[in-house]
Amino acid sequence: MTMRSLPTKTDEENSSALFSAFSVSPHSPELVGRLQMATDYVHTPVLLEQVLALFSRVRDGVVIDATLGGGGHASALLAERDGIRILGIDRDPAARIAATALLSAFGDRVHIVAGTFGELESVTANSQTFIDGAPIVGVLMDLGVSSPQLDVAERGFSFRTDAPLDMRMDPTSGPTAAEVLATIDAHELTRLLHRHGEGRFAGAIARRLVTVRPTTTGELVAAVSDAVPAPARRRGNVATRVFQALRVVVNDEENQLDLGLRAALAVTAPEGVVTVISYHSGEDRAVKVFFNDTAWGGCTCPREVDCTCGRRGHIRVYKPGAVLATASEVAENPRARSARLRAAFKVAS
Ligand SMILES: C[S@@+](CC[C@H](N)C(=O)[O-])C[C@H]1O[C@@H](n2cnc3c(N)ncnc32)[C@H](O)[C@@H]1O
Repeated sequence: MTMRSLPTKTDEENSSALFSAFSVSPHSPELVGRLQMATDYVHTPVLLEQVLALFSRVRDGVVIDATLGGGGHASALLAERDGIRILGIDRDPAARIAATALLSAFGDRVHIVAGTFGELESVTANSQTFIDGAPIVGVLMDLGVSSPQLDVAERGFSFRTDAPLDMRMDPTSGPTAAEVLATIDAHELTRLLHRHGEGRFAGAIARRLVTVRPTTTGELVAAVSDAVPAPARRRGNVATRVFQALRVVVNDEENQLDLGLRAALAVTAPEGVVTVISYHSGEDRAVKVFFNDTAWGGCTCPREVDCTCGRRGHIRVYKPGAVLATASEVAENPRARSARLRAAFKVAS
């Protein structure tokens, strides 16, 4: 994929320039080709068939795509279901521009909002004109970063190219990874690295990072490399986990997931579905625990006997285990390898 600099115009200015390029089906190769030229935003939606199968079970209404990205899942859903409209949320301006272009063919069936899924309830409250009294029949959260976020070196998510250490999904708000690393102490950094991915060498890496205070991805890679023994360095996974941990911290991802899951269930109508795709074990565990706890509703009665405490769950978990990508999907899209899908249906009250 070619690199491109971040947009300097507003979303609206960029997207209106892009709109004129499209007068063809949103799935045609011609459109995809034009999109690649227009935005360089290419992201293959993961577990698409499984997502479509889940949303085929819900009635007509509004689906909230809380991680709209380039609109891959959303466009397939809109094409599949005439009775569905999409309220799309993303915190990344580049994603919103790409999604605006791709989804323009669906006209007023789409409404795109800048924000985080932690703010999902207020976004929903502020989008009542679009929702227009329709039920919210589902929420999709396809977590983590998109391919373009990883591939555009200037965004600082990847250790493959040297670039400023940014890592913000919304490059207009909050401290960059370099700014976080400029002030954090070794104790707190050890705790965060440990919590979000890198267990074994967290202490040594944290001590090195607060000595070096890296400001570029290259300096970060070098500091991590200096801190770990040669055999671990050769396996190459430590840098991946350190980058992941810093990304989670910079984007407040743990807190966002907790807020987003609660809000998703709160806004979803009875019989609607909340679907979450996660890409690392910490995220998947959080989703599993949240769904299981909510399904039991705080009931502590022994599971072998009828409930007598009166506490009721609000959801029915789709499957006890996570849904994984098939071998053929992973062969076509290596990003799908770590994907874990979980879903829960809101129980009619
Ligand atoms: C894996 S991509 C989604 C791709 C999308 N499903 C598609 O098919 O194109 C994840 C997207 O979620 C966005 N994102 C991650 N965390 C977010 C949050 N807390 N609030 C809003 N958007 C978020 C990222 O900016 C990124 O664009």
